[in-house]
Amino acid sequence: MGDSTYKVLCAVIFLVLISHGYSQCSLKDLSVTQQKTAVKVKGKPEWNVTITNNCPCVQTNVKLNCVGFQTVEPIDVTIFSVSGDSCLVNAGQPIYRDPITFKYAWDNSFPLNPNSSVIACS
Ligand SMILES: *[C@@H]1O[C@H](CO)[C@@H](O)[C@H](O)[C@H]1NC(C)=O
Ligand SMILES: *[C@@H]1O[C@H](CO)[C@@H](O)[C@H](O)[C@H]1NC(C)=O
Repeated sequence: MGDSTYKVLCAVIFLVLISHGYSQCSLKDLSVTQQKTAVKVKGKPEWNVTITNNCPCVQTNVKLNCVGFQTVEPIDVTIFSVSGDSCLVNAGQPIYRDPITFKYAWDNSFPLNPNSSVIACS
């Protein structure tokens, strides 16, 4: 194998690895964790939610499943807005390295699994 062929091969492998890494980004890279806080709001337990994007690319228009979601503690709609069975996070704005957090209060916690997002790799 000539030297230039080898270089081309290296470049191809490198690109494949990069694009493979990017294509691994998916909804699964969004993690939603919740913890019961020590606070009660109107007699109901309070839960704090942290949404983290573990993908090296930004994710926009992130929606969580929130069927039946209720809270007695108001939530800033620019952070989490309920509309039907899905809830929009961060008003659809990009989520990158900084986790999004908010709190709600209800008798039980809601699973809030990621439903959809738009992955934007630059
Ligand atoms: C969520 O609650 C846990 C337990 O009280 C606490 O350790 C954590 O710092 C809280 N996170 C936020 C973002 O409030
Ligand atoms: C997203 O929400 C729609 C409508 O509620 C539902 O049919 C679909 O299964 C959800 N997808 C995921 C990945 O949860």
